Amino acid sequence: MLSDAARDALLEAARAAAHGAYAPYSGVCVGAAVLLADGGIVAGANIENAAQNLNCCAERTAIYAALARFGVQRIQALAVSMLREGEGAAHGPISPCGPCRQVMAEFMDADAPVLVDGGVTRAVGELLPDPYRPSGSPC
Ligand code: THU
Repeated sequence: MLSDAARDALLEAARAAAHGAYAPYSGVCVGAAVLLADGGIVAGANIENAAQNLNCCAERTAIYAALARFGVQRIQALAVSMLREGEGAAHGPISPCGPCRQVMAEFMDADAPVLVDGGVTRAVGELLPDPYRPSGSPC
């Protein structure tokens, strides 16, 4: 169970990270932050490419940055925030995409919370109830 303070810190880190997005093609700037077991927070933003299928979402950037920097481990919670830039810039909700849900399922427990800025908090297992696992594959 996340304390209110941990929740606020995670959301604030996700909001701040959105300002570091590289999103010249979509204009959609997203920030994400993950909470590690030792209380550390690692943030990331979406990074786009002219070849659009190379875009990396904020959630995956944050998860991969945390694992690369601090070692492979279970991530306790994740927060995500979208920033609409320009006049009246404001942070708001964004629903994590399917591939990011699969990556969350790899490194987070099914009951780990995903906090959407200004939206609903759902457990990873609610976002992706039946993640792909090689052992469950008939191939
Ligand atoms: N995006 C994220 O960073 N996270 C999501 O959960 C959904 C979408 C990014 C990818 C792309 O750079 C931009 O938002 C528009 O789809």
